[in-house]
Amino acid sequence: MTQDELKALVGQAALRYIQPGMMVGVGTGSTVNKFIDALASVKGQIAGAVSSSIASTERLKALGVPVFDANAVEELAVYVDGADEIDRAGYMVKGGGAALTREKIVAAQSRQFICIADESKLVDTLGTFPLPVEVIPMASARLVRQFARMGGQARIRMKDGAPLVTDNGQQILDVTGLRITDPLAFEAQVSQWPGVVTVGVFAFQKADVCLLGTSEGVKTLTF
Ligand code: 5RP
Repeated sequence: MTQDELKALVGQAALRYIQPGMMVGVGTGSTVNKFIDALASVKGQIAGAVSSSIASTERLKALGVPVFDANAVEELAVYVDGADEIDRAGYMVKGGGAALTREKIVAAQSRQFICIADESKLVDTLGTFPLPVEVIPMASARLVRQFARMGGQARIRMKDGAPLVTDNGQQILDVTGLRITDPLAFEAQVSQWPGVVTVGVFAFQKADVCLLGTSEGVKTLTF
């Protein structure tokens, strides 16, 4: 099976967590796009969605799924999102699609995080995928130096020859060379550096379930 087929498989499998009348938290990325396509097939039965990015909002609306502001909803039963890396405890690295801040917000207001991923995303230790960190632009050079002191090489993510601008008007640093052995401690430490908006380690908002697409089918990991 191709990676795209595995993504479609887990996107469809996530529907088993969707109940009639539910308001669904929706993540961002190519795997989530498969979930959005599947969700559209039950759009008449759900209340709607809270989305984690402009891109997902546009896709949901184009398929006829009503999208609500996060502030209009107190709590979501489930949040479905992908990951760049997930370890065997459900801790993740996210933000490859630059949507990590809104993803963490929607995850925080959800009772259950369902991660959908193909098997290439499962790792023993987080840190091989360059860690995305959303930052306030005036702090970027100082934060590059701060990551260097912990052994990381941080680079501003570029798009079309200029720094990428997130949905929140900020920039992304991608940090290589890190080995994140204690995700909770790492997230707590980096989150309090001035100028960091969101670090792409999802330890406090870890997955509760991972639907992992493998050549033998969908494996369900629970944490
Ligand atoms: C976006 C994310 C995505 O969930 C992550 O990058 C995985 O994306 P894909 O499903 O395209 O591999 O965190 O900010």
